[in-house]
Amino acid sequence: FLNSFGYVPAAPTLALIVLAVLLLVFKAPCWKHWRSDSSDHHQWFQGIPGPIAFPLIGNSFQLGSMPHLKLSRMAAKYGDVFHLKLGSRHIVVINGEETIREALVKHAADFAGRPDFPSYHLVSNGYTHFGKTVGAGSLVDVMPWLLKFPNPIRALFHDFELINRDIFTFIKKKVEEHRETYREGTVRDMIDAFIKLIESGGGIGEGETKLQPHHVESTLTDIFGASQDTLSTFLQWFVLLVMKYPKMQNRLQKELDLVVGRDRLPRSGDRINLPFTEAFMYEVLRYTCFVPITIPHATTTDTELNGFDIPKDTIIFINQWSVNRDPKIWKDPEKFWPERFLQDQSSKGVDRELIRRVLIFSAGRRRCVGEELAKVQLFLFSSILLHQLNFSPKSGEQLSLEGVYSLPDWIEKKIILKVISLKLLNRST
Ligand code: HEM
Repeated sequence: FLNSFGYVPAAPTLALIVLAVLLLVFKAPCWKHWRSDSSDHHQWFQGIPGPIAFPLIGNSFQLGSMPHLKLSRMAAKYGDVFHLKLGSRHIVVINGEETIREALVKHAADFAGRPDFPSYHLVSNGYTHFGKTVGAGSLVDVMPWLLKFPNPIRALFHDFELINRDIFTFIKKKVEEHRETYREGTVRDMIDAFIKLIESGGGIGEGETKLQPHHVESTLTDIFGASQDTLSTFLQWFVLLVMKYPKMQNRLQKELDLVVGRDRLPRSGDRINLPFTEAFMYEVLRYTCFVPITIPHATTTDTELNGFDIPKDTIIFINQWSVNRDPKIWKDPEKFWPERFLQDQSSKGVDRELIRRVLIFSAGRRRCVGEELAKVQLFLFSSILLHQLNFSPKSGEQLSLEGVYSLPDWIEKKIILKVISLKLLNRST
């Protein structure tokens, strides 16, 4: 979502401002409409602090290329709950551990909705069951008028449409192949399991909510989209950080060799005996915080948070970055320091209480459904990679961690892959 909000390149952002000004000048009725359209709703938000919004574009261009940093700065100024506008939509941004938990856990039902954005209908061919996957979304969601005339944002939106269509076509083909070769009683993989559950087993749910055959494709697209991008982003960060800190890489490998040995590969049961490996993994999640803002939520009812009234159907941003870099929770939050999770700073075990405070899978009803699976995968991929390989940058290569904090897809690939140009060395030879 933030890919398209926050990382709109400078030229389209400028074009947007120019467009907004032109629209204001030439379409005065539009301005009138904007005022009257939002005036009722507007009342609600007057009591909530926040930056002044521009007509039509709201605060969109103020978020820049690192929106979570801007939002965290705004939180320092306006407080844990503040209001801004993106296009014509009112957004309430929630920051800080206590306030986020208050909203997502204590008032779980009130904050568990999803906004109805046009881009969500593109994902999974409009059949999506979860609403959307991480990373989807567009400025078009909050400024739908951008679709009405040629402009760079509309072009980006159409590209996004094409990518989604390609992914969906790929998955559809795989599901068709599975349907043709499916044999009752044999479950070869996840696709077979879904076919069995939905088509052979009579489906689950009732009435309108009953799962239909087309949900096989859309559910798989959801899971594929939500897991593939996040896991690969984690691994890119992991590789970059073990190269950046070779002493830590060495310590991780020593721990693996001691506990697992050289005769077999690490398995999930080993995790409990590998405290430094686990501490390192959580520090990668905390420090990089590569999902700094969750998928947008929406309020399902009129509600209240920290004394502020928030109406039904308000878009809610949850700023996970504000928790993972909060100096009230973490000593030297800007420092990559896995030892913070080791109870006594040696290798006796990890501090479970502190680990629970890393916020990257969100919390409450909408928290990531793949969290437990993801943690096993993150552990297995990273420990097997280090068990088998040494990672080092090509000689003379400077590894910069700056400026790539939040990892929007395309910047991440451009920057990190260029930076890495790594040397792999098989450890067993
Ligand atoms: C490091 C890996 C991962 C991270 C950091 C991550 C993080 C997240 C976050 C922040 C959300 C949004 C929660 C919210 O809106 O409050 C989410 C949603 C979701 N995740 Fe993950 N995720 C990861 C891996 C996975 C995996 C492996 C799967 C599937 C096997 C998965 C499936 C989903 C699904 C289906 C949703 C949408 C849930 C909903 O709309 O209710 N995720 N994830």
